Amino acid sequence: MEATTAMALNIEEIREDFPILHQEVYNKPLVYFDNAASTQKPLQVVEALTNYYLNDHANVHRGVHYLSQKATDKFEAARETTKRFFNAESSDEVIFTKGTTDGINLVAYSFGEAFIKEGDEIIISTMEHHSNIVPWQMLCDRKKAILRVIPISDKGELDMEAYQNLLSSKTKLVSVVHTSNALGTINPVKEITQSAKSVNAYVLIDGAQAAPHQKIDVQEIGCDFYVFSGHKIFGPTGIGALYGKREILEAMPPYQGGGEMIKTVTFEKTTYNELPFKFEAGTPNIADVMGFAVAMDYMNSVGYENIQAHENALLKYATDQLKQNFENVRIIGEADNKASVISFLLGNAHPYDVGALLDKMGIAVRTGHHCTEPLMNRLNIPGTVRASFAFYNTFEEIDLMINALKRAEKMLM
Ligand code: ALA
Repeated sequence: MEATTAMALNIEEIREDFPILHQEVYNKPLVYFDNAASTQKPLQVVEALTNYYLNDHANVHRGVHYLSQKATDKFEAARETTKRFFNAESSDEVIFTKGTTDGINLVAYSFGEAFIKEGDEIIISTMEHHSNIVPWQMLCDRKKAILRVIPISDKGELDMEAYQNLLSSKTKLVSVVHTSNALGTINPVKEITQSAKSVNAYVLIDGAQAAPHQKIDVQEIGCDFYVFSGHKIFGPTGIGALYGKREILEAMPPYQGGGEMIKTVTFEKTTYNELPFKFEAGTPNIADVMGFAVAMDYMNSVGYENIQAHENALLKYATDQLKQNFENVRIIGEADNKASVISFLLGNAHPYDVGALLDKMGIAVRTGHHCTEPLMNRLNIPGTVRASFAFYNTFEEIDLMINALKRAEKMLM
């Protein structure tokens, strides 16, 4: 298995693009397994940011002068790249945001204003990140709507029968995560969308943890909204994208007022700009949009099939190694369809203690509830230790984690 993926992807060559990985922490080689929290950036992305500030910076959509035109052309070319990343029909359906949370809040506020009324129901799931729970709770409070929650099995899969039973003519929106950040579960988003459509409900997919691992195709899924973040796909922080179907975005009011989003302003009345600018008030995050597009190009150049083959091999290897080496390990999240995220508990050791000891041995993992407190409550655990892999991770790094865990186990038990 290692040989197959090694042939398809030259990991050593890829790692040369990520200088941050080549460092020691506490005199140990850094093993970066916190990719679900944020991925590292290739040189190409960093160079795009520097190049923009050194050579191309001016405000966009405003100037007749050369630099402004150049910046605008590159900015709109980045929107085309993002359109292809989503496989959206039109770049007018691509709104630049600060990230996944910002995109969900935009929809919760703006779609909520136009489409949600008292007594309507919004369906989410037990495995949602707080950012796909709280904005809907706030909307339900504003509109006196009702939040419904799809339960999960002990393996960490959605209970699809229960979901079908929750759907009714009252359902206005279904908002679910594509890939769980805490469990790794990949949800059947196309099936979820088709069922929602049978009761004429709208669908938002939170793709923050899917976009780093697989090709996104909003037309294939059939969803109305899809959101993800730049910093989880090897791009800059503070940038992300929202896809929305044109006719729904047209029917939604602006989220924020200001420059860019207007057509005409008088003290009596303002008319709003066309899509996508209606939802992009103020000077946008131009530099990070440049880096964002390069990150998408980078993923394309590595290739989704290669990424998935390598990451699946890493996931299988890590799971097998954990089970073989530790009698008292408990894997949290054993869905049949999983991304390269592995959450676990070691005996009765608190996840924080395990994570802190791993850190001192150079291994970066995340510990805690992973912003999914309701999920942790459902599983009756305080949190997990989570190792999450990207395509630049190696089997040798997993061996280092296993050895570090053996030492941690001796110290804690
Ligand atoms: N949502 C990110 C994570 O799962 C921060 O770590």
